[in-house]
Amino acid sequence: MKFFLDTALITEIKDALDLGMLDGVTTNPSLVAKTGKSFREVIDEILAIVPGPVSLEVTATDCAGMLREGRELRKLGKNVVVKIPLIKEGLKATKVLASEGTPVNVTLCFSATQALLAAKAGAAYISPFVGRLDDRGHEGMAIVSEIRKIYDNYAFPTEILVASVRHPLHVRDAGIMGADVATIPWKILEDMIKHPLTDLGLEQFLKDWQKVPGGMSAVLATQSKQEAVRAR
Ligand code: E4P
Repeated sequence: MKFFLDTALITEIKDALDLGMLDGVTTNPSLVAKTGKSFREVIDEILAIVPGPVSLEVTATDCAGMLREGRELRKLGKNVVVKIPLIKEGLKATKVLASEGTPVNVTLCFSATQALLAAKAGAAYISPFVGRLDDRGHEGMAIVSEIRKIYDNYAFPTEILVASVRHPLHVRDAGIMGADVATIPWKILEDMIKHPLTDLGLEQFLKDWQKVPGGMSAVLATQSKQEAVRAR
């Protein structure tokens, strides 16, 4: 299962890279607006350090405009994935860009039938927005399971990218259901690391370690002796 970071903030991307958990990045116009920087500046910063797929969203709403923007965005990097909204014009643009070899992330997906259309258009990724469905009283993760079943029935290669992730349970369920990717806000990735029993357990181990004569020093001393011999 791949982890993308759902952000346009370079500081968060650097933290996730440092953690070794960054397979890619997804952005959207709202996330870019939060940075206070120009789109070009944000793109350049992200592409300079992220080797994996980076989703950049078009803002045109007609097919010709989406194609124009999508082709320009794609020129900026081999790892650029063009993000296109799931509307009629978006499906047309997806079909054309996919036929040209450009990977498309079809976004703002809220039903399994929409996801089926995106797969038929040749999308590389489909982004079901599970959190926004939950917000409206629907069970967001239910559509992920439906999409998985439909894609598997027909061996569609489109990857399911669970988006609008609100908490670690969304990521857990995405994994259980066999989603290919979850795009996760940095704060939630941090929440996934934490568990109070881990903290308590570590506290106890360190307390008990104080009772071990010499602690770790004997092991570290042996190691530095061996390094000194190897260096000769
Ligand atoms: C995904 O590609 C979207 O950028 C994102 O997950 C939307 O999340 P939100 O519903 O929290 O805005």
